[in-house]
Amino acid sequence: MTKLNVHRQAQVNQDDLFLQDIFAGWSAEGQKTLPCKYFYDELGSQLFDKICQTPEYYHTRTELAILAGALPEVARRVGAQADILEFGSGAGIKIRKLIDALTTPRTYIPIDISEEILLASSTRLNQQYPDLAVFPVVADYLSPIQLPEQFSHQPDHKKLVFFPGSTISNFEPKAAIHFMKHIRSLLAVGDALLIGVDLVKPAERILAAYNDAQGVTAAFNMNLLKRIQSSYQTDLKLENFYHQAIYNVERSRIEMHLISKVQQEINLEGQRFCFAEQESIHTENSYKYSIESFQLLARNAGFDCTACYTDVDKLFSVHYLTAS
Ligand code: AVJ
Repeated sequence: MTKLNVHRQAQVNQDDLFLQDIFAGWSAEGQKTLPCKYFYDELGSQLFDKICQTPEYYHTRTELAILAGALPEVARRVGAQADILEFGSGAGIKIRKLIDALTTPRTYIPIDISEEILLASSTRLNQQYPDLAVFPVVADYLSPIQLPEQFSHQPDHKKLVFFPGSTISNFEPKAAIHFMKHIRSLLAVGDALLIGVDLVKPAERILAAYNDAQGVTAAFNMNLLKRIQSSYQTDLKLENFYHQAIYNVERSRIEMHLISKVQQEINLEGQRFCFAEQESIHTENSYKYSIESFQLLARNAGFDCTACYTDVDKLFSVHYLTAS
């Protein structure tokens, strides 16, 4: 078994960045915000995996079923000895399905912000697939990343970017196209992007998925505050906030908020922040697309929409896009 060659992009201390982002998000006039990427510390990543198992969160099991049906065809299109890059690889369940279907991919480069989880899952993959070269990259893929040289263009080896889970939903529409163009820039004509995208559907179904009965999503959202509490000097009290997810129909997105139950002042590392009763911190957007609206975005980013796979209820979609 080969030793893992880990690339770390985190030149800057994550804790400093988080604090800067909290200050920026809480000082702004109007809506307070926190960036959703900070959900995924170790506990947050575990909570996310628990969300995926709640009965209301249809995304994960639907995507896995769609992939099961689509992968034989995907494998034929991709061919042997592909180099795979995955953004936000998390626990690494879906990638196993892809690797098994492709039979002989050559390299796998998972990028994730959560170091513990990335290394644990990369180590397991490395043991399980001795012929696959695994190059984990610890990085925030929203900032520019230096990719391992294994992902540079080589004729005879197709590159496949794997971006499942509808993580693209977190991007504002403008940023989504920007990120898709960035992915396109990593590829040569004929290379591919396999991407999961959550679909628009009646609001009740969507709302239930982000307000699950067991309160796992609430705990996931509240974990952002817990992370602030455990990282910094602060008098922040968790019991002064609650989780709320709303569906914004005009913008076709779920919004996650943390709502202040009371009027309060929070001291954080020497700075003071005021919250009115019922004032919210907007922590996440999750955009829902129609198949057509997503395909339009993909074409604008330089892809051909080669295939689109979905479930009978049209809850979720998986798109095989070819760099054109
Ligand atoms: C990982 C962005 C796809 O928006 O459904 C799940 C994150 N937030 N429950 C989503 C999430 C609350 C998830 N994505």
